[in-house]
Amino acid sequence: MPADAAQATGEDEALLRAAQLRRVYGEGEDASLALDGTSLTVREGELVAIEGRSGSGKTTLLNVVSGLDRTDEGTVHLLGDELGALSTDERLALRADEVGFVFQKPALVPELTLLENVALGARIRGIEPAASRDRASRALADVDLAGLEDRFPGEVSGGEAQRASVARAFAKDPHLVLADEPTANLDRETAELVADVFRASIKDGQAAALVVTHDPVVAEVASRTHRLQQGRLHEGQA
Ligand SMILES: Nc1ncnc2c1ncn2[C@@H]1O[C@H](COP(=O)(O)OP(=O)(O)O)[C@@H](O)[C@H]1O
Ligand SMILES: [Mg+2]
Repeated sequence: MPADAAQATGEDEALLRAAQLRRVYGEGEDASLALDGTSLTVREGELVAIEGRSGSGKTTLLNVVSGLDRTDEGTVHLLGDELGALSTDERLALRADEVGFVFQKPALVPELTLLENVALGARIRGIEPAASRDRASRALADVDLAGLEDRFPGEVSGGEAQRASVARAFAKDPHLVLADEPTANLDRETAELVADVFRASIKDGQAAALVVTHDPVVAEVASRTHRLQQGRLHEGQA
């Protein structure tokens, strides 16, 4: 995947295009239909928000569109590539280079400092160590964590770890950020700070985002909001 993949896909091309996804977990009576004909597009400069009750398929949707999980039917195009046509290694490389994740739980590496955690994504993307640390340092400052760079994840609060994971997603300069309730454990003021990081990044045209959220603070930043109900996507009140 070339570094200028977004341009290569053309101006009107979507960064992410998911069509008619279907994902069933389990079999027989225990089967659970997590995605049921779900289609979704995210274009450059957009933040698309997904709302939905617990169990409606939100996390499954993020996992499937990023290739962390497979779809049983339908297709996902990520930056012009159809995920189903790529090898596991190619999917891994595409994710590492182009996608930033904010998981529902921060999932920082406990043996690394916050700075090292945030710099890691940029390093994996091939950015030089010094430049990666600079980016990480700036990304941490953006989420108000300047001064905590050398702490380990076990030495910060849950909310601080959550913010560090937002910094990690953006520090690698991805084309697309996928976030699963990024402000769920944050107070309002801190949630606004995180929403601002998303807003700034979208506005600069740096990254588009697909964000699962119930937080009005984030929904306010969204270009569109969709509701997910039992694996089906509905146009929201956006
Ligand atoms: N690995 C799994 N194995 C079996 N069922 C799963 C698995 N992951 C999710 N599910 C089921 O799929 C549905 C959607 O789950 P999920 O995408 O996690 O929902 P949400 O993130 O909206 O709470 C739920 O009914 C859930 O129990
Ligand atoms: Mg979930």
